[in-house]
Parts: sequence; C-alpha cells; structure tokens
Amino acid sequence: MTFQAPKGVSEYAPPRSAAFRRAIDTFAAAVTKAGYGYLELPVFEDTQLYARGVGESTDVVTKEMYTFEDRGGRSVTLRPEFTAGVLRSVLENGLHHGQLPAKVWAVGPAFRYERPQAGRYRQFYQVDLEAIGSDDPLVDAETIAIAWDWYRQLGLQRLTLLLNTLGCAECRPIYRAALQDFLRALDLDEATRARVEINPLRVLDDKRPEVKAQLEGAPLVTDHLCAACKAHHDQVRTALADLSIPWTDNPRLVRGLDYYTRTTFEFDHPLLGAQSAVGGGGRYDGLSESIGGPPLPGIGFGLGLDRTVLAMEAEQVAAAAVSTVDVYAVPLGEEARRRAFALLAELRRAGLAADMAYGSRGLKGSMKAASKSGARFALIIGERDLEAGAVQLKDLETAEQTEVSLASIVDTLKGKLL
Ligand code: HAM
Repeated sequence: MTFQAPKGVSEYAPPRSAAFRRAIDTFAAAVTKAGYGYLELPVFEDTQLYARGVGESTDVVTKEMYTFEDRGGRSVTLRPEFTAGVLRSVLENGLHHGQLPAKVWAVGPAFRYERPQAGRYRQFYQVDLEAIGSDDPLVDAETIAIAWDWYRQLGLQRLTLLLNTLGCAECRPIYRAALQDFLRALDLDEATRARVEINPLRVLDDKRPEVKAQLEGAPLVTDHLCAACKAHHDQVRTALADLSIPWTDNPRLVRGLDYYTRTTFEFDHPLLGAQSAVGGGGRYDGLSESIGGPPLPGIGFGLGLDRTVLAMEAEQVAAAAVSTVDVYAVPLGEEARRRAFALLAELRRAGLAADMAYGSRGLKGSMKAASKSGARFALIIGERDLEAGAVQLKDLETAEQTEVSLASIVDTLKGKLL
C-alpha cells in the first residue's frame, strides 16, 4: 500500500522548496531590520477565538474551519488565519504594556476547508506581520511598504497593490445602511438577499456577471467616510507616494474577514488566474475588544507563500533561489574517501558549501555527479595525489585543472570563492 498526501494540501520538495524557503528567509531578514519580533504560535486555538475574532458571518468561520473536539471535550480549531491568534498572544504575553506599536511576525501553515484548485489549498502557508497599539497612518504605510519591498526582493515585478478604506465604527454603519438600501432594490437570489442583511459589503465582492452588472451604481465607501477616516486614508496615500510605491484605488475592495476597519489592501498577480490575491491585510481597530482585550488599534497583513511561489515561477524568478554547492569532492579509493570526507567538513567550517560523491561510483560517475551538483569546482583526490600531498582542482566552468597542495586547498578555495 502506498500513501498520498491528503487532498488539497500544498507541500514543497526540492528543487521547488528552494523558492519557498528563500521567500521565508528574505522576509525574516527584512522584518527583523524593521523592528518586528518573532512569534511562534500554536497551530490550533479555542474555536471561540476565531468565531469572535474573524466573525460569525464570514465564510471562513461558517464553512471552512477545521474544528474538532479534543479528548478533553474542548472545541479547538486549526488556525484559518494568524491575526486573531497573534493578538491573543500579544495580550496574553503583555506585549501591549511595552513599547507601542508591538511589532510581531509569524510564519507557518493555515487551514481552510475550501474547494481545492490551482493556488487554493486546504493547508496553505502565510507569512504574517502585525503592528499592534498604534493608529498612526504611517504604520499602515510601513506594513504595506514591507510587503511591497519583499515581493520586489523576490524578483516579482508584475504585482498590483489594491488599496481601500472601510471606515470606522462611526462612519461604516452609515455607509452600510446606504449600501443595504441600494442592494435591497436589486433582483437577487435568496442567499444573496440574506447576505445583504448580514454582511452587505461582501455582496460587492460577488463575481457572478448577473450580480456584477447590477452593482454598477452601488454607493462607495469612500463617499461616506468621516473626516477622521478621510484624513487617515489621505495620509496613508501620501506616505505611499513618498515611497514611490504605486497603487490602485479600489473602493470595492472588500476582504473576507470581519475585523477590518479603515485601511485595507491586497496584492494581486496577473498571471495567477482565479486565485490572484498573493497577499492582503488591513487595519483592525476593534478586534482587541471583540476578543475581550482593551481598546488597541492594529494593522497587519498575511502574505500567501504558495501563491507567491507560483508567481515567482510564472515570472521565472524561482530558479534563482535554488542554491548549489561551491565545491564537490571526487575521491578515488578508500584512503581518498577518508581524506575527502574530512576535507569536506573543513571546507564547510570555512564557510564554503561543499558536498562529495558518496558510494563508490568511479571517476566517470563521480564527475557526472559533480557537474550535476552545480558546483563551480571539483576536487579530484586520487591515491597518487595523496602520496604527493596534493589534490586536483578542476574549474567546472572552464574545464581548467590545476594541482594544489592539500595543506593549502582550503585557503585556495576560500580565495576563489569568498
Ligand atoms: P486573507 O486575505 O484571508 O487574510 O489571506 C491572506 C493571503 O493568504 C491571501 O491573499 C492568499 O494569498 C493566502 N490564502 C488564503 N487562503 C488561501 C488558500 N486556501 N490557499 C492558498 N492561499 C491562501 C488573512 O488571512 C488575514 N489574517 C491577513 C491579515 C493580517 N490582516 C491583518 N493582519
């Protein structure tokens, strides 16, 4: 009997995993420089955290959560997203009593029981970043800029940043009512009518042509903002312009989670088909209170690693992430194998990436392995070389071969490669 991975999960094996790994490493380095600390979180939480945090009316909570009772009779849920858990952890660890905003990031799998398709999985991966405890619009711009620069660092050129604001507790209800008035007058099916009453903003996201056509004249949130939300939005936009980050205003951008207020944004990639959102985020100034915390504004994003890797592949920048060794040792004979093995460790300690031909493959097989490894240099070690205290250093690009003494080979290679 053989096994297959569960339906709809994503997984990464070499060489594809190199782009996935590079995406995480690049992100870690960039956000650490911007003052974000690392959070390692549980993969499951109390189900109520998501019901209250993400929102009872969202598809995520009503249809997509992996919820089960543990053996102690507690209802737990595999995280469908990071933000609620991040905020729970920030509050529990008292980070909000320290310097604000509390800046944290996390990475790992998330789980949603969705219909699997290209770019949509039931176990997928995100890097997540949150800045909690400040309502400064410059913090909004900082988070957006971090995501933007990261995509660029990965080599992605074709992303679009979509920007919107959803207003606040003061102006959103007024907009919501205006939108409901408009939607109630339309010709909609029963499920959509129900949605108009519970979560009218989501109706704006309906992709069906017969619904889309009717939404043409829908009132826009940007026409209903209070003065404070308008000022906030203007400052975010000015800051993005100062950073030369291009964006597209999209007053119909709604997000799938209920906690958003004010700034919301999404990164879209044109080559990914239906699942084009590679990342998204926004402000959630009321989330802390809804999970029992003190008033604490926050903003952050979740960037989908799976779709980011697909975008890297589509733009043909993924291969650049595959790293190869610098040096590949080719020992001929048992004594040479011992010496090569010790030399390998020495090379690695000196900071070089090195590998060797294991097993007894003979000169031809080993040289083939050396060339397949992508190494710049092969180190050929024969019995006679060893007697002379030397090795043959072959440049695999130029095919030039020189003899180098064993005593100086590490330094020679360091000189050439570091
Ligand atoms: P989200 O828009 O639900 O936001 O997810 C963020 C990103 O995760 C999406 O843009 C997408 O790239 C990826 N993603 C979501 N679902 C799937 C899936 N089934 N398969 C593959 N990729 C997927 C959030 O999760 C918020 N917590 C983001 C946030 C953080 N907002 C504020 N802070």
